[in-house]
Amino acid sequence: MSPNLGALAPAVTSGPSLLRQAPVGIFDSGLGGLSVLRAVRAMLPGESIIYAADSRYAPYGARDADFIADRTLAICSWLVAQGAKALVVACNTATAESIALVREKLSVPLVGVEPGIKPAVQQSKSRVVGVLATRVTLASARFQALLQRHGADCRFLCQPGHGLVEAIERCDIGSPEMRARLEGYLAPMLEAGADTLVLGCTHYPFLDATIRDIVDERMTLIDTSVAIARQLERVLAQHDLLAESAAVPLPPRFCSTGDGAHLRQLALTLLQIDAPVESVDIPSRRTATAPQAA
Ligand code: DGL
Repeated sequence: MSPNLGALAPAVTSGPSLLRQAPVGIFDSGLGGLSVLRAVRAMLPGESIIYAADSRYAPYGARDADFIADRTLAICSWLVAQGAKALVVACNTATAESIALVREKLSVPLVGVEPGIKPAVQQSKSRVVGVLATRVTLASARFQALLQRHGADCRFLCQPGHGLVEAIERCDIGSPEMRARLEGYLAPMLEAGADTLVLGCTHYPFLDATIRDIVDERMTLIDTSVAIARQLERVLAQHDLLAESAAVPLPPRFCSTGDGAHLRQLALTLLQIDAPVESVDIPSRRTATAPQAA
């Protein structure tokens, strides 16, 4: 069949201005990457965004390394197939387990995330720092190397946030149960003199208000979402891929491997973005390929 796209094809594949208008793909195991999306929209309002939440398989923090790498690669590949010009793996757990693999397999510009150990060390006065992250992130070689590299003279109290991602996926960011769970994690840090808390999972910034209510002025919270947005800006500029600035950010294209209801609710409640969510099937080696029931 003779394609009717002859005139468009060269421009689409090689025209830098069209490529600059292509979306940035942002991916998380679930809803946590919305905290990164919020920062990206604030800093780069001209960028279109396609957001993929793997809510069907969240939380990743309870999965094995091969599963996380398999899903991360499948979703990043899918985002590229949807036309993404660059990717943000907005998940500490997925970055810790698979960023090297994704870099090896995909040639698209890529930004990963990691717990804010360096800024925490720079700002802690008591030299005792709490870190809240998933069990997988804390146990990863990448996180241990981060501590080695930037840990300096600080003492780190690393607490796996068991149950937090599951609750946030249900849009629970401040129930009495959530508060009690957080108090259980934070009280030993406060008793040990921690004055800084690293939010080492992109879901946790949504607990900001509840955590502040518990710790008062006693701890500074380290959320790296603004630094990630800045890094994305740098990477896009390096590749001459920055979109033209816009006065008002475009609505993102939201996609979820779950039913998307909670993604829509959290985006509306916390980000004031009212946009539909597409339910998508993204098969991978470790997961079933049957389309999901609507
Ligand atoms: N937002 C992910 C992270 O930053 C959560 C991981 C999970 O699904 O357990 O690690």
